[in-house]
Amino acid sequence: MYVLVIGSGGREHALIWKIRQSPKVTQIFAAPGNAGTAELAENVPIAPEQVERLADWAQEQSINLTVVGPEVPLTLGIVERFEEKGLTIFGPTSRAARLEGSKVFAKELMKKHGIPTAAFEVFADPEAAKAYVRTIGRPCVVKADGLAAGKGAVVCHSTGEAVEAIQLMMADRAFGSAGERVVIEEMMSGEEASVFAVTDGRDYAELPAVQDHKRALDGDRGKNTGGMGAYAPAPVVTPDVMAQVRTLIIEPTLAAMEREEAPYRGVLYCGLMLTTEGPKVVEFNCRFGDPECQVLMPLIRSDLVDMLLAVCERRLASYRPDIENRHAACVVMASGGYPDAYEKGKPISGLDRPADRSTVVFHSGTARSGDRIVTAGGRVLAVTSAGTTLPEALERCYRAVRSIHFDGAHYRTDIGHRALRRNNL
Ligand code: AMP
Ligand code: GLY
Repeated sequence: MYVLVIGSGGREHALIWKIRQSPKVTQIFAAPGNAGTAELAENVPIAPEQVERLADWAQEQSINLTVVGPEVPLTLGIVERFEEKGLTIFGPTSRAARLEGSKVFAKELMKKHGIPTAAFEVFADPEAAKAYVRTIGRPCVVKADGLAAGKGAVVCHSTGEAVEAIQLMMADRAFGSAGERVVIEEMMSGEEASVFAVTDGRDYAELPAVQDHKRALDGDRGKNTGGMGAYAPAPVVTPDVMAQVRTLIIEPTLAAMEREEAPYRGVLYCGLMLTTEGPKVVEFNCRFGDPECQVLMPLIRSDLVDMLLAVCERRLASYRPDIENRHAACVVMASGGYPDAYEKGKPISGLDRPADRSTVVFHSGTARSGDRIVTAGGRVLAVTSAGTTLPEALERCYRAVRSIHFDGAHYRTDIGHRALRRNNL
């Protein structure tokens, strides 16, 4: 089989690493990939947003399976375009990807079908939105309707902050048309976790629950990032909580999407807040998370290609993935300054030293420059280890992190802290 993976981050490197283990696969292509994917796949210089070019290229190359990493091509309709050409592709259609692409769509769907989420109002007029936050006088979260590269949600502790966020999104159009409408929602409290349901629209298989670390600095301080590290399974998602997530969130969401004539196929990423009233949806994403994918791949014992094909061919009812009874942890090494401005092109050393067999250094923002590998993005590496316990996985991971160097590198030293505290480890 020829497999194409679309994207260029640590998530895509992890997908390729796992797909590479399948005996069914002859060759993998990454579009556009990075210096890490180039070791396992052939990088093809086509951007994920160039949907038409990707479809033409995949057809010319007789690609048997395409896996889409990021959300933008999904919302642009890459799945329909490939399927029109008779190509097999893993991911939701653009109608189904509205679950991530439009917060208004996702929130209204949840309200209509009784799926637990924060109470909310939708506004298309900035003055009406500002008047509303002045009347509620409580902390709230202001969210741009459309995609905003992970920056579209602002947690506001005061009315002033909320007015400022509305001004930024709606009047100053900081995210362009994504901010034409905003959702203003009640602030929830609790611990966050992510549950991934791989689904063919009707049946689904859940993967181990993951906890991401979104803030830049230890102790969950500093700015929001794309994710500075992750671990799985997250013990806060007990079997009881998982049962609630299934019956209150995953199953009604899949049924609702079918009723809306937008059956959801691919991986449904449920971003959850575990509140005292039970799990509630913070957001849905229509793809694997980054760095959540990096900790999930080492925990799947089955051939990933079998799982992806079972989804594409709508036969998940007769397929269950085997999950390792192990733990995985991922520490992201980022460029100095990230998530604000940072420099690129810093040579990375230590990548050639063999890590232990349970550790993989996934590349996020890297590029080749002559015979060196250099930094090429905010998040540079996603160092990932597995172990029989979480402390073992973390110890392996940090040992590998300490042996890798580049100018300005920074990383969190407390990945997994909630699970360690919870289990007194
Ligand atoms: P989102 O883009 O919707 O995932 O939001 C980004 C982050 O903002 C989430 O991971 C939460 O940490 C926080 N957040 C979003 N919505 C809420 C909410 N209603 N209550 C509390 N925190 C929230
Ligand atoms: N790590 C968060 C995300 O992928 O959206």
